[in-house]
Amino acid sequence: MLEVVGLSKAFGGLVAVGGVDLSVPQGALFGIIGPNGSGKTTLFNMLTGFLEPSSGEIRFEGLNVRGLSPEHIVRAGIARTFQVVRFHKESTVRETVWAAQSLHLGLGGLFRGIGSPSQKDLAGEVDRILEKTWLKPHADRLARELPFGLVRQLEIARALATRPKILLMDEPASGMNPSETHQLTEDLRRLREDGLTVVLIEHDIEMVMGLCDRIAVLNFGRKIAEGTADQVKNDPDVIAAYLGTKKKRAHA
Ligand SMILES: Nc1ncnc2c1ncn2[C@@H]1O[C@H](COP(=O)(O)OP(=O)(O)O)[C@@H](O)[C@H]1O
Ligand SMILES: [Mg+2]
Repeated sequence: MLEVVGLSKAFGGLVAVGGVDLSVPQGALFGIIGPNGSGKTTLFNMLTGFLEPSSGEIRFEGLNVRGLSPEHIVRAGIARTFQVVRFHKESTVRETVWAAQSLHLGLGGLFRGIGSPSQKDLAGEVDRILEKTWLKPHADRLARELPFGLVRQLEIARALATRPKILLMDEPASGMNPSETHQLTEDLRRLREDGLTVVLIEHDIEMVMGLCDRIAVLNFGRKIAEGTADQVKNDPDVIAAYLGTKKKRAHA
């Protein structure tokens, strides 16, 4: 579904991502791990049109999406959540999800072929997403008044509102307590059962190992391993990368 070939990004002399190949099949729950600064967020930024790659290819459902704007990539069916969450602080939870849905509906989205959905259908869809993400009781609160765990939920709701085929999540469990992390794990399983393909960057290795069917490991911008949780866990290069994270970062 998502094919990445030789994807690279250099910032001046620093190779943040170097020649990464990835192949994410439809329906997968695919994990990406790696020490801090290993290029995970930069990779997502390229996949979602926020950063222009230095080289390499990105194909989604066989189409070249490299060079498309973030809005066009969202409309192609790729949604993301951010490591650092930002909302329009004066909007309510419901308005935030509604606005994200409008992005999907803009220029040739749902209106093409299916016909215009009624306001009632659209409101129903927003409600359905709020329920799925446990936000229904908080729908009329201001986004800025939400406690941290619910902010993360709203970030997911906003991504789902764009009707993605694939959801890229950047450390969704960061800052969550164990029970919130557990809930998130269950939610991700359910989204996948509903047919969504998920790519998960996560610091919480336990969570990734328990959840993902395939895991790629980045270190200094390069993919050093890929496989099942068991394969990755026992890979000597992966063990060395995690033990060696205190070493100074080599600049290319
Ligand atoms: N916009 C940028 N300009 C310069 N360097 C950057 C930029 N974004 C990321 N980097 C550098 O690229 C490397 C990879 O960063 P990042 O992708 O954020 O890593 P991760 O998400 O794995 O922690 C780091 O060394 C980081 O400092
Ligand atoms: Mg990051």
